[in-house]
Amino acid sequence: MPPSGRQAGRYPGPVAATELDQVVNLCKRRGFVFPSAEIYGGFRSTYDYGPLGVLLLRNVKDAWWRSMVQLRGDIVGLDAAILSPPAVWEASGHLKNFTDPLVDCKVCRQRFRLDKLDDPHTCPNCGSKDSFTEARQFNLMFKTFAGPVEEDAAVAYLRPETAQGMFVNFANVLQTTRKKPPFGIAQIGKSFRNEITPQNWIFRTREFEQMEMEFFVPPADSSRWYEYWCAERLQWFVDHGIPAELLRLRAHDADELSHYSSGTSDVEFLFPWGWDELEGIANRGDYDLTEHATHSGERLEYFDQAAGERYVPHVIEPAAGATRTMAAFLLAAYDEDEVGGERRTVLRLHPRLAPYKVAVLPLSKKEPLLSLSHEVAALLRPRYLVDEDDTQSIGRRYRRQDEIGTPLAVTVDFDSIEDKAVTIRDRDSTEQVRVPIDRLIDEIESRLA
Ligand code: GAP
Repeated sequence: MPPSGRQAGRYPGPVAATELDQVVNLCKRRGFVFPSAEIYGGFRSTYDYGPLGVLLLRNVKDAWWRSMVQLRGDIVGLDAAILSPPAVWEASGHLKNFTDPLVDCKVCRQRFRLDKLDDPHTCPNCGSKDSFTEARQFNLMFKTFAGPVEEDAAVAYLRPETAQGMFVNFANVLQTTRKKPPFGIAQIGKSFRNEITPQNWIFRTREFEQMEMEFFVPPADSSRWYEYWCAERLQWFVDHGIPAELLRLRAHDADELSHYSSGTSDVEFLFPWGWDELEGIANRGDYDLTEHATHSGERLEYFDQAAGERYVPHVIEPAAGATRTMAAFLLAAYDEDEVGGERRTVLRLHPRLAPYKVAVLPLSKKEPLLSLSHEVAALLRPRYLVDEDDTQSIGRRYRRQDEIGTPLAVTVDFDSIEDKAVTIRDRDSTEQVRVPIDRLIDEIESRLA
């Protein structure tokens, strides 16, 4: 881990709100995250990912895909449709069960999720006592119509989770890949929920991205695989730079379990507002395959030739939000320290996640320095995302790169023309070393590894 100016438990009392504000402001100012439709006053609960945010979010998703698919032989990928017919959600139980209890305050007319209220008798907005309406169950799925006619037969839903795509394609994947349990199907993509109370920036939004994996196992092995995935997923966040003290695994109480789950644990992160969910790992049993088999009339089973037996695999599901994970990485990486008597803000992002890996900074805009800088940038671009910046003083440019989390800055100076060498500066230690240009890639490679 890079050295950090802050330590665990760094969100005491009133600092919390400031901490979130600082990250939200940085993200707006530097082009990570913009409120969507801002020029029209914004569209509460949706966000746009700017030039740096799109890189960071992509790196988060790539890091997940690398761990889940690339580095393993037992998980394959899928990209299923977002629009889906009611039959899928009838079978999955979402039409009936994917609801939140909604109450309105009769005094101030604010709307709340009953299960999220600290005190179910007191309105957190106006303080009125026992002013809530009876709770109504509100389905979170976005409904639309496929085709030109808005009639019942044309109803379609935007998926509220990517998971069902994996279940309805179980037989297709089994047949085409010849995998056998234990094996998994992974998917990254957008999901939509008509959240009653979207809140905390990109933490809970109505449109978001998920990274989900359904791991199909022989029924007798499901507990073992559940434990395995809980440990693996917690470690993934640590491996990508979140201090272990800011993470915990919390098993759900029986009354918290989703309709499909016989056991769920959340990976929780210490957000500025307290511990909250980053990812859920659920033991879904045979619920989904059995329901889809019953509703569709298709056989969704595995035939184990060696044992001569047919069974419905059980499913262990690690389900993370990509956008929520990005928020956690930003919050954990945000730091302020002092360099040479000057305050700086630095995003200590893991190099794999950082939007740019290398900044190329010519000391001056004069020739032939600028041309040499372009040459160095062109040398690096096939391998890394490079930000070439020749504006303002070198000190200010370092600060800018620190603030967006660029792990390495390469400075091209007047000596570079003679000695064909450049200086590499490390974001976290701010140490600088001189490196010949023909050894630059090796040096960067070993530092980013
Ligand atoms: N397939 C299981 C499933 O979807 P979930 O706990 O409802 O489980 C998984 O969602 C993850 O998706 C959550 O842990 C969270 O990271 C993310 N997520 C869920 N709702 C979200 C929302 N409204 N905004 C952002 N992320 C959300």
